[in-house]
Amino acid sequence: MSGQDWRNVTVGGERTRVRVLADLDRDAPYLWPSVGEYPVYDDYLYHVMLEDEPRNKLFRDAIAQEAPGATVVELGCGPDLLWTLCAAEAGAARVFAADVNEDSAARAADLASTTAHDIRVFGGEATTLSLPEPADLCIAELVGNIGGAEGIDAVLADARRRHLKPGAATVPAAVGTRAAAVCLDDLLGGRYGVRPEYVDYVERLLDAAGGFFDLRFCVGNVDRSALRTTDALVEDLRLDEGVADFPSVRLDALGPGRVDGLLLWLNMRCAPGQPVLDSLDTVTNWLPVYVPFAEAFDLADGDVIDLECRAETVADDIHPDYAFTGALVRADGGRTPLAADSRYAGGPFRASRLHRALFESEPTAARRGSRGR
Ligand SMILES: C[S@@+](CC[C@H](N)C(=O)[O-])C[C@H]1O[C@@H](n2cnc3c(N)ncnc32)[C@H](O)[C@@H]1O
Repeated sequence: MSGQDWRNVTVGGERTRVRVLADLDRDAPYLWPSVGEYPVYDDYLYHVMLEDEPRNKLFRDAIAQEAPGATVVELGCGPDLLWTLCAAEAGAARVFAADVNEDSAARAADLASTTAHDIRVFGGEATTLSLPEPADLCIAELVGNIGGAEGIDAVLADARRRHLKPGAATVPAAVGTRAAAVCLDDLLGGRYGVRPEYVDYVERLLDAAGGFFDLRFCVGNVDRSALRTTDALVEDLRLDEGVADFPSVRLDALGPGRVDGLLLWLNMRCAPGQPVLDSLDTVTNWLPVYVPFAEAFDLADGDVIDLECRAETVADDIHPDYAFTGALVRADGGRTPLAADSRYAGGPFRASRLHRALFESEPTAARRGSRGR
């Protein structure tokens, strides 16, 4: 097919090829690997966040409301110290900032030293950090494409135990994930592949995850017209209250149509009373995630999908794997079991139709000097 090609992906001494599409229209739906969960942040990714004005406005407004007079800790501050500086400028008494990425932490420390504010920057994982004193406010932009995927629930649970005063505020205050059924095959017009410039992120993500597995993909340039069922909240992290809830939901068919997976997207509230950022309705750096069902099927009027979501931190006690189980319930009462999962790391490779369409074969030992096309 024209415009479709393969590129090598080499991870841990093994190699396969990923399909690329060099001729995708700017506005066409496209696949993007969900990278925010992994230590692969670079200047491009930080720049995309820096330019995300819908996100930035909500963080700025929440911090202006919560920071005056407070001792603040920012977990995951990045090299630009966006929210740490925002808190200091809003009148925080002092700010502690941390980032697991040592290069980002070093750049943040350099930046802090050029200001007159009381800011201390620490390098390292938030859950191993020791603070000189407890904080009144915790800022953590550890928000995933699936809201909890970057580990915000585990990191803030630890922060509440070790870093925060009782009743401390958090920004964001709540992170939720909504779900509905979609047909990716229809959205992509049957053309599977990633843009050539994304191949490097696929390789770095798999490397960070420890090897080939069915990595999480987002779908850009989609909106509510993609949905084939009603939608519902499946992950509800009320971070300011320390509550994590995964409600059982019912998704009603919107009419007859084919379905091959779930679309999951972010709903985030930075402070109580603030508007919710919905990543399906907003142009933002967060993109909806596609999770394939084992088989595609046709929905008819009156059909319902019953769905339960579970999140388990298997790989590192921070980043969850998501599992969705339930049933397609036909209008006549007939039930067909459904299952889908979206892992942080590990598990099978090319087990799903999506991953078999994207990756050429099981990986084999890479020959020396065989990187590249
Ligand atoms: C989504 S970026 C946010 C950067 C910046 N705060 C902003 O909002 O633009 C997340 C940052 O948190 C860092 N990070 C991710 N998980 C972390 C953890 N568990 N502990 C400390 N830093 C973490 C990453 O290295 C990255 O710099």
